[in-house]
Amino acid sequence: MRSDKRGGQFMTPDLMEEGAQRIEALAQKRQHGHTESGGRAAGFSRIATPGEVDITHGRILYLEDVSVSFDGFKAINSLSLDIAPGELRCVIGPNGAGKTTMMDIITGKTRPDQGRVYFGSTIDLLRYTEAEIAQMGIGRKFQKPTVFEQLTVFENLELALKTDKSVRASVFFALDSAQSDRLLDVLQTIHLREHLGRLAGNLSHGQKQWLEIGMLLMQDPKLLLLDEPVAGMTDEETERTAELFLSLKGKHSLMVVEHDMSFINTISDIVTVLCDGSVLAQGTLAQVQADERVIEVYLGR
Ligand SMILES: Nc1ncnc2c1ncn2[C@@H]1O[C@H](COP(=O)(O)OP(=O)(O)O)[C@@H](O)[C@H]1O
Ligand SMILES: [Mg+2]
Repeated sequence: MRSDKRGGQFMTPDLMEEGAQRIEALAQKRQHGHTESGGRAAGFSRIATPGEVDITHGRILYLEDVSVSFDGFKAINSLSLDIAPGELRCVIGPNGAGKTTMMDIITGKTRPDQGRVYFGSTIDLLRYTEAEIAQMGIGRKFQKPTVFEQLTVFENLELALKTDKSVRASVFFALDSAQSDRLLDVLQTIHLREHLGRLAGNLSHGQKQWLEIGMLLMQDPKLLLLDEPVAGMTDEETERTAELFLSLKGKHSLMVVEHDMSFINTISDIVTVLCDGSVLAQGTLAQVQADERVIEVYLGR
């Protein structure tokens, strides 16, 4: 169950606000890029800025010895796991393994009883609220698509940038040129450029999933968590989603939970197998598929 205390159909207004701010900052950076240093020197000597993710240690997400119990049942049991910047990590495992709960912990929806959860090497995620974590650039896609069915594809993406959702603000909202560039870019990425004027409600299930991913991308998240993104998709949609994820790799860090092995096979580098709330095995898909313990608990004989 997603908790949505803010009452909207869309889960992360704060993330939207941050997206808008970041685009603004980006536009300004572009403007000031042509200084004496060519805008380069500053980047080389830059020391980690407060609020910015420090990935100098080669890790964007770091979980250590994390546990959480629900009524005495350990859903997450001394879980340790880390992800490199730009990595596309796949997570598999039987139902009830704790995959969704792990995402709940990373996004601040569930507090662990023990352990450490870091975003980069300096941001202790356990000190922040769900809204603050979204604002820092951790986007989450739940299994069910959540788009505004009565709005067009374009309007849905546009909305992802709006900070004030009141009708009055909406009337006066206009995209600046950086934002329009970004929107067109995202439309292309999610294969919906030809459908920008269509009502979201008329899209196929797969297209709605892409649109929601697009809404997350409008906010330029650093880390994207995707829970069973191809469930219910046709084979063709699944293939296109694999292409989409491969195109995001490197620009964003991704953690993808899926059961579809051919999909995993197409997109994965490292696969983590979760079982009983901790890591059972990790390696290439071929490696974990050959692991006796993984076959026993998950893949079957
Ligand atoms: N809020 C909760 N309250 C009680 N039990 C929960 C809660 N969230 C998850 N669980 C239990 O924790 C275990 C892990 O669930 P989950 O993370 O959803 O597994 P997965 O996503 O791998 O299928 C399950 O046994 C589930 O019933
Ligand atoms: Mg789950």
